[in-house]
Amino acid sequence: MSTRQPILEVRNINKTFGSVIALADVSMDLLPGEVHCLLGDNGAGKSTLIKTFSGVHKQSKGEYLFEGQPVEFDSPRNALDMGIATVYQDLAMIPLMSIARNFFLGSEPKRKVGPFNLFDHKFANRTAREEMSKMGIDIRDPSQPVGTLSGGERQSVAIARAVYFGAKVLILDEPTAALGVKQAGTVLRYIVQSKSKGIAVIFITHNPHHAYTVGDRFTILKRGRTLGTFTKNELPREEMVRMMSGQDELEALTHELEEFRHSDDLKAAGQSTEIDQQLARGS
Ligand SMILES: Nc1ncnc2c1ncn2[C@@H]1O[C@H](COP(=O)(O)OP(=O)(O)OP(=O)(O)O)[C@@H](O)[C@H]1O
Ligand SMILES: [Mg+2]
Repeated sequence: MSTRQPILEVRNINKTFGSVIALADVSMDLLPGEVHCLLGDNGAGKSTLIKTFSGVHKQSKGEYLFEGQPVEFDSPRNALDMGIATVYQDLAMIPLMSIARNFFLGSEPKRKVGPFNLFDHKFANRTAREEMSKMGIDIRDPSQPVGTLSGGERQSVAIARAVYFGAKVLILDEPTAALGVKQAGTVLRYIVQSKSKGIAVIFITHNPHHAYTVGDRFTILKRGRTLGTFTKNELPREEMVRMMSGQDELEALTHELEEFRHSDDLKAAGQSTEIDQQLARGS
């Protein structure tokens, strides 16, 4: 195991929403320059955990340390100022605004003209184009609306923006979920590029192949609890695929479908089944 100091660490944190226990006794650390995948089923607590990191939520109990120091964030702005950038799946972008405007959303470059402070289009366009091209995306016209970009390209704008504004930690909540193979590849490539710049990445995904391709360590959540953190050596690919694809659930489903087929056979023999009756009632 590494003896490097984690850039970010939580110890035994709990988060409750009323009577819902979203996180129970969760500990996790993030090392500089690693890609740390956060895995688990729907409702496991992944988004709640990263929202605690990014200052959206405050833990109900437990410790949160950034670069070894205890921190308490009042808002996502505090986390951002310390270099923790989060790209949410439902991106905070304005579709009708230009790529360059979206790139600088919240930190607009200004140009003084007489008594006025105007948005510096020239600087914004040039920088947005340069930063995107560093990530391998060629934007012909940074003044075109961001809504004209594909999902993958939009994710790339969000990631490029975080890197440009000096993120030390990049948190990506299911950035590849809605993407095709090629676009997902683009995002995965950026993750690796960010890592090579020394940025620590937390990557949430439901895709075991994406996780295994870029991940160094894996933390698995299940119903608000952590099952532990594993290195690649400790978690062979087949094991992860089996775990994440819900192999056991798939086998159970196969059985269930077999029974359906069987009931179809009964129907063929002229026997009505309960399902048929329900369907008949519904139609
Ligand atoms: N703001 C909230 N208010 C009440 N309950 C919440 C809130 N946010 C999350 N929860 C609950 O906390 C639990 C964990 O939710 P969370 O969104 O963290 O899961 P997740 O692992 O990100 O799931 P998914 O893979 O579906 O995105 C769920 O039971 C959810 O209903
Ligand atoms: Mg989520």
